[in-house]
Amino acid sequence: MKRPVLVTAGPTREKIDPIRFISNYSTGTFGYEIAREAKARGRGVILISGPTCLEAPRGVRRISVESALEMKQAVEKEFKNCGCVIMAAAVSDWRVKTQVSTKIKRRGKGKVLELVENPDILAGLGRHKAGKILVGFALETGDLEKNAAKKLKTKHLDLIVANRLGKKGRAFSDNKTSVLMIDKFGNKRAINNKTKKELAKIILDKALSLNIG
Ligand code: C5P
Repeated sequence: MKRPVLVTAGPTREKIDPIRFISNYSTGTFGYEIAREAKARGRGVILISGPTCLEAPRGVRRISVESALEMKQAVEKEFKNCGCVIMAAAVSDWRVKTQVSTKIKRRGKGKVLELVENPDILAGLGRHKAGKILVGFALETGDLEKNAAKKLKTKHLDLIVANRLGKKGRAFSDNKTSVLMIDKFGNKRAINNKTKKELAKIILDKALSLNIG
């Protein structure tokens, strides 16, 4: 029996006060398509999801989380039982240093929020990967190939899927998108103008073929 695939999806929300949060434009579509496709291939699937409007694909066990720290805790709990981890979530790199429990009021002047870095969940897994396949995503505004290759190496990944923020800043919500995949052997493949559903199949084919070597 093949071990389950763990997929993360969606944004995280970092609370400022009970009303407000820091987040990003991720819709979760990519991760949900990957989870759906892995399930269609007969794999057990655990989907750890930040807040989205999407329905969990049938037969997939979804664990809903809000913040990066909650996502980290859920991922680390499930990691040991999985054979492959696909981190499609757009994890917030920062959280507010001090969350407050009452609404922050206007005081007729500016407000400075102090941010601290969130832990890099994927990099943490990469340090203890124990034969598992690790797949990361990278959304870039600068040198796509260079930045993605660097992340592949520093996070000890087997595969990275990089895409560029679209011309209208819409990479997150565009249904058709183009990606560059780089594997741990340095093989590169550019895939242009495909739906996220089509890309999910291609990414899974590649990821699940990497369990040797
Ligand atoms: O460094 P960057 O945020 O571009 O890396 C993207 C990859 O790392 C994604 O797969 C994302 O899910 C993961 N990540 C993470 N923890 C963070 C930030 C990103 O696991 N705090």
